[in-house]
Amino acid sequence: MAVVDTLDMPKKHKGHDPCLRSPTSRSCCPRRPDATATARTRPTSWAGRKYEKNPFDAVANPGGIIQMGLAENQLSFDLVEDWLEKNPDALGLRRGGASVFRELALFQDYHGLPAFKNALARFMSEQRGHRVAFDPSNIVLTAGATSANEALMFCLADQGDAFLIPTPYYPGFDRDLKWRTGAEIVPVHCTSANGFRVTRAALDDAYRRAQKRRLRVKGVLITNPSNPLGTAVPRADLDMIVDFVAAKGIHLVSDEIYSGTAFSDSMPFVSVLEVLAARAPRAADYGLDGRVHVVYSLSKDLGLPGFRVGAIYSSNPAVVSAATKMSSFGLVSSQTQFLLAALLGDKDFTRGYLAENKLRLKERRDQLVDGLKAIGIGCLESDAGLFCWVDMSHLMRSRSFEGEMSLWKKVVFDVGLNISPGSSCHCSEPGWFRVCFANMSAKTLDVAMQRLRAFVETSYKGAGTVGALRRAAAAPARSMSCPLAMNMKWALRLTPLSADRKAER
Ligand SMILES: Cc1ncc(COP(=O)(O)O)c(C=O)c1O
Repeated sequence: MAVVDTLDMPKKHKGHDPCLRSPTSRSCCPRRPDATATARTRPTSWAGRKYEKNPFDAVANPGGIIQMGLAENQLSFDLVEDWLEKNPDALGLRRGGASVFRELALFQDYHGLPAFKNALARFMSEQRGHRVAFDPSNIVLTAGATSANEALMFCLADQGDAFLIPTPYYPGFDRDLKWRTGAEIVPVHCTSANGFRVTRAALDDAYRRAQKRRLRVKGVLITNPSNPLGTAVPRADLDMIVDFVAAKGIHLVSDEIYSGTAFSDSMPFVSVLEVLAARAPRAADYGLDGRVHVVYSLSKDLGLPGFRVGAIYSSNPAVVSAATKMSSFGLVSSQTQFLLAALLGDKDFTRGYLAENKLRLKERRDQLVDGLKAIGIGCLESDAGLFCWVDMSHLMRSRSFEGEMSLWKKVVFDVGLNISPGSSCHCSEPGWFRVCFANMSAKTLDVAMQRLRAFVETSYKGAGTVGALRRAAAAPARSMSCPLAMNMKWALRLTPLSADRKAER
């Protein structure tokens, strides 16, 4: 079944675009998860289940596990709640006092409510300082970024085609991009030597590895700002990546789900669409503007993952048309669209919310970084996101992924902090962990830091100072193979447990 059929192609692309999914692809025969995978337990899911059985509560369960593996933004709920209280019509499904219940109950157009799409387009533009404008007719609404990423893969890749993704990357991509589409991910290995920035050499290397595996590379997918690094991609790097996809004639998907969390003035968030706009009309000549697609969602910036609101933004009419049809499988409910049309349409609210949310995120990030620094633990300098990328390699007994696993188990079980090991994000260096800070109170974060301090001081007493620990850890890494990553292909099991689903956030 063709996902993008030729009738949907824009006139200038008449005929089949080799970069889009083949009309004769076996897209309706995706791979099934390996049955043997059910026997293998994915460590982060397993830790998620342990957490669910024993969650920390300052009063009821002060010895419980603190959830630091969940990229949730709970810091600005009060702002949204205040707005809801002042705008009861939005929740009460009323317009000017009159009920719109029947209208919404019947609405099922997969193009979405125009009022919501207009408000979302304006909000996305506001987040980028109005440096780019979003045309509502290029927006496809989806049930979160999860659904947006999968729909894009269905549109752009045939079974067995590949997307290049810089590491470390969001572990959910292994599920969202591959499971039902049959697409492959080829990692672009980034290292701590340059702060995990993507280089042209790393992209070329990944491209060559894909070709060796006889995979057709359909595109590059970046997350900007990055999950798990907590950093916005510098403009120069975006330019380099755009040059790469232009040279190869492939697509670029930019997952910008964290765009509203970029809290640093010195490293402001730059959307790939700004880079493209700066190249116009050159970009149009090369067909680049039809091969760059943005994914967005309200799960992180507004802290509403339960609302399931996401979007694809593309200037390629064939992609918009096909993805709109695909969105039937994951629509945003009409009452959610109605409520959010009013919320995002309130410019005073969005302006105030975006500014205040960034301040709160920065403050909480500083609290985590200072707490870690006081016990000799460093982080990659972050400027966005709901987490820090933390270097605990000096606390490992061996510089290997086995060492990382055993340290991680200690931190989960002995210290009671559910953090995410870097190997679950396909990091090629052992010893890095993603630590989330926006899903808890400042007091809980203090408790977490106290526990970590006690752990470091008691467990590493014999090793002397933190400096000595770091020197001992400076020995070359024993193994760069990553057992978790190798088992990852179907280790993301289909499972009914909510803990597993959440562990990947
Ligand atoms: C980079 C990235 N993309 C997509 C998602 C999925 O987001 P959603 O809840 O909107 O489906 C996440 C969630 O953590 C993420 O970090």
